[in-house]
Amino acid sequence: MAGRFDADFWDDRYRGRERVWSGRPTAQLQSETTGLSAGTAAELGCGEGADAIWLARQGWRVDAVDFSPVALARVSEYAAQAGPDIAARITTIEADLSAWSPSPNHYDLVCAQFLHVPADLRATLVHRAAASVLPGGHLLLIGHDRSDLQTGVSRPGHPGLYFTGEEIFAQVDAAAWSMETNRVVARRGVDKSGTPTTIHDVVVRLQRRR
Ligand SMILES: C[S@@+](CC[C@H](N)C(=O)[O-])C[C@H]1O[C@@H](n2cnc3c(N)ncnc32)[C@H](O)[C@@H]1O
Repeated sequence: MAGRFDADFWDDRYRGRERVWSGRPTAQLQSETTGLSAGTAAELGCGEGADAIWLARQGWRVDAVDFSPVALARVSEYAAQAGPDIAARITTIEADLSAWSPSPNHYDLVCAQFLHVPADLRATLVHRAAASVLPGGHLLLIGHDRSDLQTGVSRPGHPGLYFTGEEIFAQVDAAAWSMETNRVVARRGVDKSGTPTTIHDVVVRLQRRR
C-alpha cells in the first residue's frame, strides 16, 4: 500500500495513460466556489489540472501543487491550450505535501479534491493549510466519504483515503473557523471489480473567521 502514496506510483499511473482524469472540473468545487470573490488559491494534489484551470477561468490566481512532474507537465500543457490569460494565472509547484509549508495568511482559498494521502498526513496538511488561509478565506476538501467503508461498498484504496466533515473540523481551531458546508453527495462509480455502484463524496467547506 505504501507505493500508492509516493510520487513514483503517481508518475507511473500518469505515464500509463494519455489522460487519467476526465478533464472536467469537479462539480462540487464549482458549486462551492461560485459566489466567492476570486483571489489567491492553492490546489493541493492538482493532478492534471482540470480544477486549477477552471478556477483560473473564474479569475483565481492558482498555485497548483503536486509531487508528480508528469501530472504537472500536463497542467502546463492544458493551461496553455486554454489560453495565455489562463496559463498566466496558474503556477505549478512540484512539492511533496508532506514537506510543503505554505506562507501563513496567504490564500483566499485552499482546496483539495480527492487528494489521496494517509490519514496522518491529511491531519498535518489540514493544520498547515488552515494556517495559510487569510481571515475570511476558505478551506475546501472534497473526497471519499467514510460511509462507503461502513456500508461495505467494495471500493479501492486504503481506509485512510476516506474521511468525514466532522473529522476535518476537529483538526482546526473551532473558535477560529466555521463549518459552512458538510454534505455527502451520492454519485455513480465503480467498485473494485469495475461493477457500477453508488458511491459517496464528502464535501467540507470551512471559513476562517475575520
Ligand atoms: C486521486 S488524484 C486527484 C487529482 C485531482 N485532484 C483530481 O481530482 O482530478 C491525487 C493526486 O494527488 C497527488 N498527491 C498524492 N499525494 C501527494 C503528496 N504527498 N504530495 C503532493 N501530491 C500528492 C497525486 O500525484 C495525484 O495527482
